Amino acid sequence: MTTETGSLAGLEAEALAALEAAADDAALDRWRAEWLGRQDGRVTVLLRGIREVAPDERAAYGAAVNALKQALEARLEARRQALKRAELERLAREGAIDVTLPGRPQPLGRLHPITRTLRDCLDAFRAMGFRVAEGPEVEWDRYNFDAARIPEDHPARDMWDTIWVNTLIDGKRRMLLRTHTTPNQIRVMERTPQPPVRVVVPGKCYRQEATDATHEWMLTQIEGLAVDEGVRMSDLKGVLYEWARAMFGTDRRIIFHHSYFPFVEPGVEMAIDCFICRGDGRQCHTCHGTGWIEILGAGMVHPEIIDNAGYDASRVTGFAFGIGVERVAMLRWGIEDIRHFYSNDLRFLGQF
Ligand code: DAH
Repeated sequence: MTTETGSLAGLEAEALAALEAAADDAALDRWRAEWLGRQDGRVTVLLRGIREVAPDERAAYGAAVNALKQALEARLEARRQALKRAELERLAREGAIDVTLPGRPQPLGRLHPITRTLRDCLDAFRAMGFRVAEGPEVEWDRYNFDAARIPEDHPARDMWDTIWVNTLIDGKRRMLLRTHTTPNQIRVMERTPQPPVRVVVPGKCYRQEATDATHEWMLTQIEGLAVDEGVRMSDLKGVLYEWARAMFGTDRRIIFHHSYFPFVEPGVEMAIDCFICRGDGRQCHTCHGTGWIEILGAGMVHPEIIDNAGYDASRVTGFAFGIGVERVAMLRWGIEDIRHFYSNDLRFLGQF
């Protein structure tokens, strides 16, 4: 009996050591199978061995092994609870919010540089009494070309300059992605029975273009139109001068050169004095040493267009202008390549 009890104590020590080493549910289950398993758990086997014990020792043996079994079951349950508690504590510790951590910055979206420039331009014109209107990007050739006095054989109509919609109407392509916002001069006058008209029309335009640093196949324009009795070239100059000051600084000077656009007569190109080199830099990339930067086309609306709108061309006159917004943005921020605007590179866009 002494030997038995002694060996049972040794067994209990071994079982408890193994139990301490079991660190998760799976290990506990393995431990339970090894020691208390119904079939061949080591303690179960001991209980079954009672048959081989001398009859007068059986009661004591049975009591001792049963006590061992109950002790091990109790320790197993205690160990299970301890592990569960430790796991809960670990979760609480790791999931806890550390209120002393600095907050994570939320990245703020912002407006695209072209959108900003466009809005600033429109604000400047609105302040001078212009209304903002819009027109379709998919346009009829009638508005884009004919009504703007661009005849059938004009190179601007070429397959290679114009992105046509591939639908034939009476055997011909009639729809295109507008190449400029100028058709809106006609559209606005059509829905304005009588002058005055004072409107700016922003929008995207499309051209079949081999892209380079100053040419994109998509561009943003602002068309301006003012029609009324007594509108003069000096009004055009005054409006564009105010706009240039708003966009490029109050000390700007402007100059007009004669130019040709079929829908105006006379037609002009406007330049502003180079605010990069102030006219003294022969190396200036912006004005190429001329001291002047061409920024837009403009002119007095052709009398034929006034007449076609149903206005009395003997009394009514108007001026029009077309601004390339990308060009304005490039000048404004010293951007050397127009393709940056639409390449979706956050390193570029993040600077604005
Ligand atoms: N439509 C012209 C272009 O895309 C720009 C333009 C020039 C518009 C003169 C005008 C204007 O209204 O008067 O190149």
